[in-house]
Amino acid sequence: MEKTIAVIAGDGIGPEITSEAVRVLEEVADRFGHVFTFDERLVGGAAYDAHGDCLPDSTLEACKRADAVLLGAVGGPKWDSLHPEKRPERRALLTLRRELGLFANLRPAKVWPCLRDASPLKPEILDGGLDLLVVRELTGGVYFGRHEFSADGRSAVDTMPYSVPEIERIARVAFAAAEKRRGKVVCVDKANVLATSRLWRETVKRLHAEEAPGLELEFMYVDNAAMQLVRAPGRFDVILTENMFGDILSDEASQITGSIGLLPSASLRADGFGMFEPIHGSAPDIAGRGIANPLAAILSASLLLRHGFGLAAEAEAVDRAVSLALEAGLRTADTGGGASTREAGDAVISKLKRL
Ligand code: IPM
Ligand code: MG
Repeated sequence: MEKTIAVIAGDGIGPEITSEAVRVLEEVADRFGHVFTFDERLVGGAAYDAHGDCLPDSTLEACKRADAVLLGAVGGPKWDSLHPEKRPERRALLTLRRELGLFANLRPAKVWPCLRDASPLKPEILDGGLDLLVVRELTGGVYFGRHEFSADGRSAVDTMPYSVPEIERIARVAFAAAEKRRGKVVCVDKANVLATSRLWRETVKRLHAEEAPGLELEFMYVDNAAMQLVRAPGRFDVILTENMFGDILSDEASQITGSIGLLPSASLRADGFGMFEPIHGSAPDIAGRGIANPLAAILSASLLLRHGFGLAAEAEAVDRAVSLALEAGLRTADTGGGASTREAGDAVISKLKRL
């Protein structure tokens, strides 16, 4: 298979972790006889410093042309004082999501058996396991509503719009994912307060009856979901939710696994085109020290192979190599060890070579 991957490593630890993911993809290409071309482009603060724009046209065009996009992270204190519209998060990340039509964000979270000690939850709570998938709507809701201050700067408003088609298409993604997993969907909302949540409930209920009546469907308020996640994380299979609730709950889920440095994500369009990135940010506090955990980036590369290119065996090999490396004792600083970013990449690649 011949594919072009746009690599936008971004800021902070982005470049360090992304280069390990690229090395893993190169190894996969070698092993399985594929040709991957990496088109590296600037994004985020790095692009702002070079071109005065966190998302230069050349980067956006390269992403549109590519077969998939691999993203590191964007943002950092250096660019925090930019106008909100120009900041890396809004100008680069949110524009990429919207321009590329990436409405479906998949964030799988599971506890690796050998890393159970890294989880802050008591063993008896973790005994119920944790293996869930957050299906987060990514191009609607409050992230893409109006964000405005009044003329005198003494009041502000953010709006949270959603339409039936937007809810239907993400619900279908969650249903399809649940069919391949344990068949349970929890739709998280705040229907006791928000109109958009009531629309979500009506729409998801109807679609479930029409298209996926065999799946178990439960509705849960977001505050209760936040609580249940630390009380009984094993009860969740697929969590279907809107943009901001998904942002918050996926960070919470990541901590239960022991480290946010382990969680990958896939942001997909209906045709499978996608952008793949770790859910952690640019971690400016540890950037440039070569100690960041590259596993979330490497696992994002695995999602790229699986969802972006339909290469299930290749993705499986990467997941297996990560698992074997962890079992053999690989630990970066976030999981209580001393392995460097490069050593962690090496450990995964050496397992991959021996599979
Ligand atoms: C994420 C991040 C982003 C989000 C930020 C950086 C805008 O937290 O991908 O979870 O809120 O979507
Ligand atoms: Mg987040």
